[in-house]
Amino acid sequence: MTYEMILTETPAPGVGLVRLNRPQALNALNGHITREIFEAMEAFDRDDSVRCMVLTGSDKAFAAGADIKQMEDMSAVDMFAGQDFTDWARLTRVRKPIIAAVSGWALGGGCEMAMMCDMIVASETAKFGQPEITIGIMPGAGGTQRLTRAVGKALAMEITLGNRHLTAQEALQYGLVNRVYPLDAYLNEAIELAKKIGGMPGVASVMIKDAVNKAYEMTLTEGLAFEKRNFYLLFGTEDKAEGMKAFVDKRPAQWKNK
Ligand code: CAA
Repeated sequence: MTYEMILTETPAPGVGLVRLNRPQALNALNGHITREIFEAMEAFDRDDSVRCMVLTGSDKAFAAGADIKQMEDMSAVDMFAGQDFTDWARLTRVRKPIIAAVSGWALGGGCEMAMMCDMIVASETAKFGQPEITIGIMPGAGGTQRLTRAVGKALAMEITLGNRHLTAQEALQYGLVNRVYPLDAYLNEAIELAKKIGGMPGVASVMIKDAVNKAYEMTLTEGLAFEKRNFYLLFGTEDKAEGMKAFVDKRPAQWKNK
């Protein structure tokens, strides 16, 4: 598969990397680039040799938001009928874990896309924000919902109403990102983390991601029941048998991802 606005590679065993490559527009997210991102992620999701993905941009910009030039002439009906933004849910349906490796600008839809991933590894230069109000609109891909759940109401209000940007260190402090590294290290560290996660038994990995995400969607009672169901299901996998036998035998497990 060849893409025009993204690059894909497998930089380490078990790791699929998708890199936004629209530098002239700071990786602004138009319908074309988002479709390519979703297609590439779905392809890695289907690929048995890949167990964890990394989504990254450039050192200067993860993504500076949805493409304002594309949206400038669009009406409410155009936006509603166009599907471009509805399609963003495709990223959240990817079953394997995705790590966003963020440097520079992660604004508007860029911040929202990073938050759709399962973890965020940031460079020291990363800047997170939801500036939509400054162009007369509001976040439309999770910025009022995922951000509020991540950093709490007071700060989410300030970011979305007052166009406050969070530095990487602030984002770490408030729980939006997992880790912060120097500019020359963040991508390798994200790949290392993906390699580590990708080296875990694959069915358990998918079920754990699914269950953690359900914590956002379900009541505690429903979520606990969902977790228990996945927990019991894993006892039917070959990796459960191998993992427990390897522990008893005091040897490393050989995962089959089955
Ligand atoms: N859409 C389209 N083009 C964009 C863009 C965007 N979101 N962000 C940057 N670009 C383009 C610029 O227009 C410019 O192109 P030209 O050279 O052709 O003029 C190029 O990228 C470089 O940008 P700047 O010259 O502005 O770079 P800078 O370093 O001076 O500033 C910036 C960087 C602060 C990120 C600034 O570009 C900016 O404010 N961008 C817009 C951020 C924004 O408002 N994002 C929210 C979009 S709406 C949204 O995302 C809705 C949603 O919830 C889904």
